[in-house]
Amino acid sequence: MSTPRPAVVERPYSEVLVIGAGVAGLATALAAAPRRVRVLTAGRTPEQAASAWAQGGIAAAIGSGDDPDQHAADTLAAGQGRNDAAAVRRLAAAAPDAIDWLQQLGVRFDRDARGALLLGREAAHGRARIVHAGGDATGAEVMGVLARAAAREARVQVLAGHRAFALARNAQGRAAGVWAWNGQGIERWPAGAVVLATGGYAALYRYTTNPPGSDGTGIALALAAGAALADLEFVQFHPTALALPGDGQLPLLTEALRGAGAVLVDARGERFMPAVHPLAELAPRDVVARAVAARRLAGEPVFLDARAAVGAAFPQRFPTVYAACRRAGFDPREQPIPVTPAAHYCMGGVRVDARARSTVPGLYAVGEAAGTGVHGANRLASNSLLEGLVFGRALGRQLAETPPSPPGDALPCARRYAPLDAALRAALAELLWTRAGVMRDEFGLAQAAARIAAWRDAQLPGASGADLLDLAAALVAAMRARRECVGAHWRRDAA
Ligand code: SIN
Repeated sequence: MSTPRPAVVERPYSEVLVIGAGVAGLATALAAAPRRVRVLTAGRTPEQAASAWAQGGIAAAIGSGDDPDQHAADTLAAGQGRNDAAAVRRLAAAAPDAIDWLQQLGVRFDRDARGALLLGREAAHGRARIVHAGGDATGAEVMGVLARAAAREARVQVLAGHRAFALARNAQGRAAGVWAWNGQGIERWPAGAVVLATGGYAALYRYTTNPPGSDGTGIALALAAGAALADLEFVQFHPTALALPGDGQLPLLTEALRGAGAVLVDARGERFMPAVHPLAELAPRDVVARAVAARRLAGEPVFLDARAAVGAAFPQRFPTVYAACRRAGFDPREQPIPVTPAAHYCMGGVRVDARARSTVPGLYAVGEAAGTGVHGANRLASNSLLEGLVFGRALGRQLAETPPSPPGDALPCARRYAPLDAALRAALAELLWTRAGVMRDEFGLAQAAARIAAWRDAQLPGASGADLLDLAAALVAAMRARRECVGAHWRRDAA
């Protein structure tokens, strides 16, 4: 006897339906607000959005002698020329205005003793152009302010605890809303435009700096609906997450620590980065991640030692990292901290054009969920919150000016909410970490593809968990197809 399907509850029509309440989703919603906007988020609190965890700042050419062309040039260099140059120019040009907007909304960026904005310099930026809030708590500050602004805006409604798992399409193939799981049953949310702002898929990996919700669900939903994806193989691994015994989300030890002089050492307390790259600990993120990964693969622990460079000032300068270390039983003022690389940011996602349109009419994507090409093969530090803000606001304005599609009949749902079970999810995370992780080769990737295909065949047809396996298969296929080493994509077997 088959299990009866739960009844579908019909919800009211939204002119714009945003899926995801991180920086990109809220920036889109606020800018589109002359329209009636609903934001559905699977999370229950703003901290469940990856944006809230961002310790890096926001890059903008606002310092003396700087300009958007220089910011764009650094972004293109980091992306190793695989970027969409027009998207990069739009990002850099709109960055100063995005900082102004955040300040008008109430974001308090860090300032110097004379009250001027403090501008930090991070790896691969030619100038000091990064604004921070609360030292290492920029994401949390920006998210708090955007969430309060959305709560004040009468035409924006944010609904927590709703996990979109399938796109509703009409007879013409246009996106007409989503089906979502509210914890008890299925709801259909009809809409004139659907915006995916669901973040990336770094949490599919065993070690990640992202919260569990960054598991690619939104991108999998788009894939299942027939949308094209782009650049999936470009996954950025952060070199220094706190190496704790468990799996899943690990606290990030921000790159700014190495900027402040913290060094990477082995079990004997000896530095190894000077022998790897002329910039030592400040080498590009992918170079440092590979050096740390190689040692750990050989069974050697790696530590970040901030005692001399930061020492007693740690709690004031890096309060978020300090609190995380103390919770884990370490005192970074007194001891080196064990680190591991961890999946951090996905440059690829749902392929979109300059107007954030996917290949499915009526379906848009912004922020980390989107494959805009802006980051190329490697994202420049502190360009990620910026991307969500700039492209989110641009899309919101565009939707505000576009008459929404009227409500119409959507085709019945061919998919069901049936997530991967925990054991399979953990096995997938381990497989991706070991076969499609910091360093890859054809042998390991082919093994990963075969395992994922076998798991996929055992899933219920149309299950949301099967969609996630389809995304994992697409990720591995993209890594197999690119046989070169470029940016964050490193193949041991490249010619
Ligand atoms: C960090 O603070 O190390 C991460 C910043 C970023 O990913 O842009």
